[in-house]
Amino acid sequence: MQDLPNLILVGPMGAGKSTIGRLLAAELSRDFLDSDHEIQARCGADIPWIFDVEGEEGFRLREVQMIEDLTAREGVVLATGGGAVLREQNRRRLRERGSVIYLFTTVEQQLKRVAKDRNRPLLQRPDREQVLREMFELRDPLYRATADIVVRTDRRSPRAVVNEIVRRV
Ligand code: S3P
Repeated sequence: MQDLPNLILVGPMGAGKSTIGRLLAAELSRDFLDSDHEIQARCGADIPWIFDVEGEEGFRLREVQMIEDLTAREGVVLATGGGAVLREQNRRRLRERGSVIYLFTTVEQQLKRVAKDRNRPLLQRPDREQVLREMFELRDPLYRATADIVVRTDRRSPRAVVNEIVRRV
């Protein structure tokens, strides 16, 4: 679709970016793109492999390039990885290239949703709750600085979240 602003979802692991993004795109008849998914497809390997072989730095470089490429599209719903806002270049691009929606959730909710997920290398450690709390402290201000609107996703259905986004953008 042409001449429509992109709708870009930012927020931490387990906030529901992929689920809500897919629903939102269907609701608005737009294409849905998922940055992590596209990185894996382009690389031909999954995220744990990229972290193992190239380290987090290697993954972040791929993520910068992917955000550059995906935000060149128009009218899409784009889900970003939880760490995308760490790079100033990404924050600038996301703001320039769409309406940014911060999907807020709590660490408690994240633990319920992602604690056992093997596909998230940053959480494969016993002190993952502490890791999530530190990530929250660092990243919550970055999500807020990047986003046009903040929408809570904890204790609500994905459908309710989508309805709120459609009302507010
Ligand atoms: C990361 C979040 C992941 C993925 C990678 C790093 C992060 O995406 O990009 O494992 O730093 O928070 P999701 O937020 O989709 O899980």
